Amino acid sequence: MALVVTTSHKARASAIARAESFARHWGYLYVDRDDRRIDELIGPAGAALVMTNSELRLVTHSGSLTSHLGTAFIRLKSWSRGEGDPLVRAGELQPGDRVIDTTFGLGRDATVAACAVGSQGSVTAIESSAALFHLGQFGLTNGALSTSRVASVAGAAPAPTDLVLANACEWLGLAATNSADVVLVDPMFEEPKASDTGFALLRSVADSTPLDAQWVREARRVASRWVVVKSGPDAPWFREVGLERVHSHSNVNWWRAPAQ
Ligand SMILES: C[S@@+](CC[C@H](N)C(=O)[O-])C[C@H]1O[C@@H](n2cnc3c(N)ncnc32)[C@H](O)[C@@H]1O
Repeated sequence: MALVVTTSHKARASAIARAESFARHWGYLYVDRDDRRIDELIGPAGAALVMTNSELRLVTHSGSLTSHLGTAFIRLKSWSRGEGDPLVRAGELQPGDRVIDTTFGLGRDATVAACAVGSQGSVTAIESSAALFHLGQFGLTNGALSTSRVASVAGAAPAPTDLVLANACEWLGLAATNSADVVLVDPMFEEPKASDTGFALLRSVADSTPLDAQWVREARRVASRWVVVKSGPDAPWFREVGLERVHSHSNVNWWRAPAQ
């Protein structure tokens, strides 16, 4: 997907300078916004990263998105009241744990994991879609996913999240054995997740590589406790790679496989 960088209408000089510097740093085309409509700047299959005076916005022909907590807000509130969370339960996440989220997306699971493992733990997150990586990076450093903003919702300091632009399978292949406690895998699936409108736009920019056995095997080698998989349908090979269904009251199917 071709990405261009521009600004909102009426962007201040500081936002324009920020957008130009961002485009230069990452090697994207910077386009002056002038009076043009955003869909004139986005090619037929493209997306724009739009620097406004306060945030970075991802715009495609499907809509526009900024980094926000979305469903993680409710999950963090419920976790902070001691009501638990399906990811925390499936991974048996504890303070100080090292978590690798191989599919960062909009960062909701990574944010919940970061709170569960706390400031003594760590979260390494991987995202292969450049558009989502940049949106997430902005959210983590300046926006709704920053440690201070998340702490104010969860009432506890989260672990720092290190977001990497990479293909998860390649990245896992280079990672040391048992270098994390829990590895999370939540790839794209066919059915839309109607509960969260952000996922419609996510679908248009996300990497839709399907989950396969090799991905789970590599994750099991890197994990020292659990590989947690969030999945729609049950695939025939799930049991061959050690995946067992985790009982959960949520409308998402959770699976996990023990470390190897
Ligand atoms: C369903 S979303 C994940 C949502 C995320 N768990 C959350 O809470 O926001 C899947 C994400 O994984 C990314 N992805 C898919 N295949 C990938 C791969 N092989 N490597 C890295 N990221 C991948 C997609 O681009 C998409 O952003």
